Amino acid sequence: MLKGKHIILGICGGIAAYKSVYLLRLFIKAGAEVQVVITPAGKEFITPVTLSSLSGKPVISEFFTANTGSWNSHVDLGLWADAMVIAPATASTIGKMANGIADNMLVTTYLSAKAPVFVAPAMDLDMFAHPSTQRNLQLLREYGNHIIEPASGELASHLVGKGRMEEPENILKVVEEFFAKGQDLAGRHVMVTAGPTHEKIDPVRFIGNYSSGKMGYAIAEECAARGAKVTLISGPVSIRAKHTDINVISVESAQEMHDAAMNVFPSCDAAIMCAAVADYAVETPSTHKIKREHDEVPVIRLKKNPDIAAALGAMKRDGQILVGFALETDNGMANAIEKLNRKNLDFIVLNSPNEPGAGFMTDTNRVTIINRSGSSREYGLKDKRLVARDIIDVMMEKMP
Ligand code: PMT
Repeated sequence: MLKGKHIILGICGGIAAYKSVYLLRLFIKAGAEVQVVITPAGKEFITPVTLSSLSGKPVISEFFTANTGSWNSHVDLGLWADAMVIAPATASTIGKMANGIADNMLVTTYLSAKAPVFVAPAMDLDMFAHPSTQRNLQLLREYGNHIIEPASGELASHLVGKGRMEEPENILKVVEEFFAKGQDLAGRHVMVTAGPTHEKIDPVRFIGNYSSGKMGYAIAEECAARGAKVTLISGPVSIRAKHTDINVISVESAQEMHDAAMNVFPSCDAAIMCAAVADYAVETPSTHKIKREHDEVPVIRLKKNPDIAAALGAMKRDGQILVGFALETDNGMANAIEKLNRKNLDFIVLNSPNEPGAGFMTDTNRVTIINRSGSSREYGLKDKRLVARDIIDVMMEKMP
């Protein structure tokens, strides 16, 4: 259930911090990628070295990394996460979260997080029972956070009562159950195209474009995180798919992408065409490197590449969903609607390379989703993983 999920594990300063090590191991064993954020007090109870060895990532505690001076962005971290789990959560951190007191990395990350937040309190019974703690927990519930109630038992003070952090296995179960409900693509097969295509000019040169693959890979990761079996047909990119349920077919040219897509699409429930496919290929690529020492500047004749989305649109079965992208510099709406209809898409995602933070290579994008009915919705600038979420939410509304 947690395979490929991004989890922030927030650790506060309490004796139960030792249990976070087990929780971290359980998350990792379940296939999650975990980033530990620890409060300064948390480090008094458990060392960052232990946590970074298990998570495979440096532990974040301060706003700045002391030796490099580099800034740890709580905003990026908050957007990266599929879930934030704060275990143990002390009375002090719960109070700060409830009241927006952002004086450490953990609370600032919490305030920036868009993902569901799970809070596992751990403290002495009287602290837990105090009206201030109870009021703050109630505020967190009202904010939509999930409180994992502490268990009763012997506490660090040797008093017996409610305040023991829930056992790591049970915290794992709560998070897993939450995501089980979010597995709306379970049993579905989704094809995603991503990246650019390279059209050979000669053995050392090609016609390409600026696509990094980030948008298409974010879609593939999000589909897989929601339970789909994903076939990702990728042009040449320097990023890699992380989720183990993503089967990557690497291609170079538009013709290769077309052949792979035609092969895979019949077994799919949906296809999302995010690749920036070259519309033209070189008619006769040279088998030898074209030399500069020619008398004349060579003329390269082009031929039209197959339109992959249109070919899939023509063969689409009833119930199959086909999603296209439109990358437009001018007349975005009109051009996108023309592509939506001509390619027989179910909806199209319009974006522009002219907008700051959108289109090629950026980590963010700003899109407008246009439906067959002509209705459309504009979304704000956001992380490509969150854009992927919006696109898949719309796709799910249309999925039979
Ligand atoms: O990879 P990134 O750096 O993250 O950048 C993301 C992106 C800008 C590449 C992405 O968001 C995007 O806009 N992808 C589509 C780019 C594109 O080729 O748009 P288009 O308007 O030219 O094509 C329209 C649709 O037809 C697209 O779904 C495209 O995949 C498809 N197409 C186009 C040409 C072709 N020969 N075959 C196709 O299937």
